Parts: sequence; C-alpha cells; structure tokens
Amino acid sequence: MIDGKGRSIDYLRISLTDRCNLRCVYCMPEDGVCQIEHSRILDFEEILRLVHIMALLDVKHIRLTGGEPMARRGCLDLAARIHAVPGIESISMTSNGILLKDKVHQAKLSGISSLNISLDALDPAVYSRLTRGGDVSQALAALRQALEEGMKVKINTVPVRGFNEGDLARIAQLARDEALCVRFIELMPIGSGSQAGRIPYAEAAALLEEAFGKPEADTGTYGHGPARYVKYPGFKGAVGFISALSHEFCASCNRIRLTADGQLKLCLNHTKGLDLRGMLRQGAEDEEILDAVRRAIAQKPERHAFYEAISDHEERAMNAIGG
Ligand code: GTP
Ligand code: 5AD
Ligand code: SF4
Repeated sequence: MIDGKGRSIDYLRISLTDRCNLRCVYCMPEDGVCQIEHSRILDFEEILRLVHIMALLDVKHIRLTGGEPMARRGCLDLAARIHAVPGIESISMTSNGILLKDKVHQAKLSGISSLNISLDALDPAVYSRLTRGGDVSQALAALRQALEEGMKVKINTVPVRGFNEGDLARIAQLARDEALCVRFIELMPIGSGSQAGRIPYAEAAALLEEAFGKPEADTGTYGHGPARYVKYPGFKGAVGFISALSHEFCASCNRIRLTADGQLKLCLNHTKGLDLRGMLRQGAEDEEILDAVRRAIAQKPERHAFYEAISDHEERAMNAIGG
C-alpha cells in the first residue's frame, strides 16, 4: 500500500528471534543480553496469519531476520509456508551463515531465493574479535554452499574502526572473483552501534577506489533494499553501499518490520508502531487487524532522524529489531 508520504510499502522484514549465536560488537552487548521471553514471541501460526494479512495490503517481499533467524527452530519450515502464501513473490534471509552451513540446500528447497550473509572480516582473528568468538571458516563454508546452489548471495560488511579496516578491500575482492554482491553498511547508532567506531561511507569508498580504481554506477537490481551499487573495473559482481547517515534513503523507503515479539515497526529508528501480538491474542478479526495495519502504515515516519530530538527514538538493540 501507499503510505502517508506517497511511498509504496511492499517489503516486510520479519525478525524470528532476538537470539544469536554470535555477539558482534556493534550489535549486541557481550553479556547481560536481555532476551525476549518465549511466551511473548509470536508462534508460526501467528506469523503466517499476519503474512496473509500483509499480502492483502500488497506486501510482496519477505525477509527473515533475527538475531540469527536460523537460531529459531523450524525457521526453514516457516519459510516454505510463507513462500506458499498467495501474493508473496520473494522470500529472502539475512544470516551470519554459521547455522546455515549444510542447510543451504534445504533453504533453497524452502523457497528462499536470496541470502544476505553477514561477513565483517576474512582474517580469522579479526572475525573472532568482531563477532566475539565466531569461526569465519564456517561462515565461508555456508557462503560457498550458497554459491554452489546457485542462490543469489550478498555479503554484508559493516566497517568498524579498530577492527576490520585492513579486511575491507579483501572482502570487496570476493565480488571481483564471484558473481555476488558485497555491501558496505555504514554503522548506525542503534544499541551497541552507538558505541562502536563508524567508518563513514566516503572513507570506505576512497579505500576501495585506491585498491580497484574508479567504479561505475551499477543500475542492476540485486534486491529490494536501500543499497546503491557500483562496479569496479574487472569485477564479476557488484559492490553496494548502504549509507543511512551519509546518503539518507528514507524518501524511497519501502519497508515495515515485524519484531519477534509481534510489534509492527514502521521505521528502524522509531518505536511508533502497532502491538500486533496484543491484537492477535485478544482475538481480533483479520479485518480489524488489516484496518489497524493500514492506519499504522499511513503514519509511517518520514525519516529516521538518528541524531535529532524526537520523542520515540528506538532504544532496543539491533538484534531485537532485525536490522
Ligand atoms: P535487499 O536489498 O533486498 O537484499 O535487503 P536489505 O539490504 O535491506 O537487507 P539486509 O537485511 O541485508 O540489510 C542490510 C543493512 O541495511 C542492515 O544493516 C539493515 O539494518 C540496513 N537496513 C535495511 N533496511 C533499512 C532501513 O529501512 N533503514 C535503515 N536505516 N537501514 C536499513
Ligand atoms: N549498523 C549497521 N548495520 C548493522 N547491523 C547490525 N547492527 C548494525 C548497526 N548498528 C547489520 C548486520 C547484518 C544486518 C542485518 O544488520 O551486520 O548484516
Ligand atoms: Fe548476530 Fe547479526 Fe547481531 Fe552479529 S549482527 S550479533 S550476527 S544478529
């Protein structure tokens, strides 16, 4: 549907869990993580009911996120059921890859056509430090399997000062050698992201230009998100930049979010939304939910306003939102 600012909303990000097998420094605190209680998490029937309702409002693209979506038992069964919902044209997943290893074929069979794999370093020690204990060889194995299965693959890399500066060009090289996309995501000041060191878009882009030469704009469609893509000379794949601060993209935002505890989020950085779990559990009819979602979308905030004095800044960590 069209929101109050004339934007077409056709993409729903569903966070299946706030739990994760890693603890990336910019995403989750090292310990003392406050997890959502099981009873507050939507069950699969509730999620499916909401997907049916969203499809009636012309949502066509679904992305499964987390925490780590593969940390939720039955995630791929749910994907297959979402894939069968009339009106849903694509289903994709954002994962750190580790729990996907040896399950990529099953993911493909479940109808997931595209995987975004978070990979912030290739150097095993840097990866381990950034993820607080992750084993990069497992993420790389999943990446390899996804390419072998012929899935559309995008790598997500968040440049973080004091961690992966030395790995950025090496990660970009994956798009030189393989037909995949590598995206550099500007760190956003949400949760632990407020304490980590952002490397701004211009600095990352300059570093890559020095390594690979001047890129050309790439107008190919690689997903349904806010990345802007370029092609460096001799590259098979594209490099993308998601720069929410340097190049705000809110004017073309096409998405809403469903958190694991059943809150409809209208913007990454605003708490304003709708308590869908409450409606479901209080016995609301589909028509009532549909109407409430329609009214909420009409109120979708115009922009993220990360550094401005707004009354409903998101306080939750990224793992509880799903990115
Ligand atoms: P595709 O382009 O369809 O692959 O989706 P995507 O790039 O939006 O998905 P992904 O989950 O890989 O997100 C990549 C990064 O973009 C993450 O850091 C998200 O937090 C960020 N992101 C996604 N949507 C938004 C948004 O609406 N606003 C902001 N500020 N960041 C977003
Ligand atoms: N800023 C930017 N990207 C983030 N991600 C997690 N936290 C942040 C943040 N504060 C990314 C992860 C993952 C995607 C879902 O969001 O690296 O690729
Ligand atoms: Fe887990 Fe992803 Fe957050 Fe890293 S960025 S801690 S992989 S949810």
